[in-house]
Amino acid sequence: MSLQKEGWGTRVGLVLAMAGNAVGLGNFLRFPAQAVQNGGGAFIIPYLVSFILMGVPLLWIEWTIGRHGGRHGHHSTPGMLDVMGKSKWWKYVGVFGIFTNLTVAAYYCYTESWTLAYVWHSVTGAFAGRSAQEVSDFFNEYVGMTGSFFNFPPLALFFFLFTLTVNTWILSRGLAKGIEIASKIGMPMLILFAIFLAIRSLTLDAGEQGAVNDATLGLNFLWEPQFDSLSNPKVWLAAAGQIFFTLSVGMGSIHCYAAYVKENEDIALNASSAGWMNEFVEVVLGGSIVVPIAAAYLGLEWIQNPGNVGLAMGFRVMPTLFQNWGPMLAALAGIAWFGLLFFAGITSSLAMGQPVLAFLEDEYKIARTRAARIWGVLILILGLWTVFFYGYGAHTEFDDWSGTFALVVFAMFEAIAFAYVFGIDKGWEELNRGADIKIPNAFKFIIKYVTPLFLVAVFLGTLISPLNGNWNEAFSSLFRGDGWPLDGGSIIGKIFHVGVADTRWFVDGAPSPVFVVDMTRTLLLITFIVIALVIRSAWKRKEQPSA
Ligand code: PHE
Repeated sequence: MSLQKEGWGTRVGLVLAMAGNAVGLGNFLRFPAQAVQNGGGAFIIPYLVSFILMGVPLLWIEWTIGRHGGRHGHHSTPGMLDVMGKSKWWKYVGVFGIFTNLTVAAYYCYTESWTLAYVWHSVTGAFAGRSAQEVSDFFNEYVGMTGSFFNFPPLALFFFLFTLTVNTWILSRGLAKGIEIASKIGMPMLILFAIFLAIRSLTLDAGEQGAVNDATLGLNFLWEPQFDSLSNPKVWLAAAGQIFFTLSVGMGSIHCYAAYVKENEDIALNASSAGWMNEFVEVVLGGSIVVPIAAAYLGLEWIQNPGNVGLAMGFRVMPTLFQNWGPMLAALAGIAWFGLLFFAGITSSLAMGQPVLAFLEDEYKIARTRAARIWGVLILILGLWTVFFYGYGAHTEFDDWSGTFALVVFAMFEAIAFAYVFGIDKGWEELNRGADIKIPNAFKFIIKYVTPLFLVAVFLGTLISPLNGNWNEAFSSLFRGDGWPLDGGSIIGKIFHVGVADTRWFVDGAPSPVFVVDMTRTLLLITFIVIALVIRSAWKRKEQPSA
């Protein structure tokens, strides 16, 4: 069967698609939550340093691996690493590039579908006249949290199916006619909506429209650098984690988009443009909406309470705050806010879909439309898991393992593969071929030594984070001979349920959250293994002489 050769239509389309890939829910929901939880101004220096020393180098590494793989006919990471490495094992590192995209897309598409539902609710004025508590309860009702282990929320299911269908349909149309068009519509719209909200937010003054503080209160909290955090590994880990998620590095999705770039077309400048565009949207726009508005109405103490902030804050709290602006503007703000989240989300979920399609097309010669349908079914199965068991933490579990930890592991491997297996000299040359900018030579050194070391440090830090992120205390405990106090949120701590008082799977005959968490991890592990087997069988098939 002959497969159509795909490619990007235009350079603008490519950069917008890549920026759309990076700009996502992470920029508007995750960034503010992370920044606030890590002390606002304390977060920003580790964040920027991580961007320069880890984020930018990884972007270049991934674009290079991608374009190189594309030239060899591979648009997903197993094949890309296979043609770079000398051992046949490298293709199994590429499992991550399929696994993460599948499992993140599952809970991500679900989250994305909330935004569409909330656009709808804003249009119909569902939040008007409701108290803050009622709006927050509205969310619980929407996702079907009834306190039992199984949720069956009909409306949320409907919107999830709808969102997934739209994604599948766009993916089935291909790169230039699907993803590129979606990005050309989505990106300008989201920027427009974000600018509207940012202006509204930044012009809030205490005493007007129900605001108790000036919007600058939140801004100062975010941006006044605090240097004492520089020695706190907890903040560094959070900052590095946010850089990963927001730039979409460590996923295999940038590789995939870059694989469709022509052999001698620039990647150095394109990678930088898309990366900086993401940072602009995150820091300037993402930082000017949730935090300043929440601080203006609810105060700094409220946003610093860990129980109040988080991904769901955009849904639980923002609609209430918009009500202060009068019914007309509240509805508009709701549409702009959830609309921008939807556009941000869909250009990202498409980026998670394409690598899986590419894998099926390249390695199994499955036609695109069919590959898109297979993807849709897989996301449906994995996504339903996060719908049904949302209340008992399945969604969070997906985010922790796939959306956070797996990215670090994969990035560490690929950085090492790039500098030491492929070889930094070859890598550097490959990156600079056709480049429209001159990358400072210092980055050759950074990519070879600093980035891999940084990644290993982040990996180890995540593995063994000490109780409450208190490293000083942990080291003194170690030297006292009292052992290392693991935090329940560290990877090892999670595996052994450190700090969980009751680890029974069933309590009074009903499944417990621990049960759901363990089953979710089992599901993720099985998914990983199945992908490895599928890769093995693809390569086996290729080795056989075709009849
Ligand atoms: N970068 C996206 C965001 O900020 C998430 C994403 C991760 C998208 C990985 C694609 C691949 O939301």
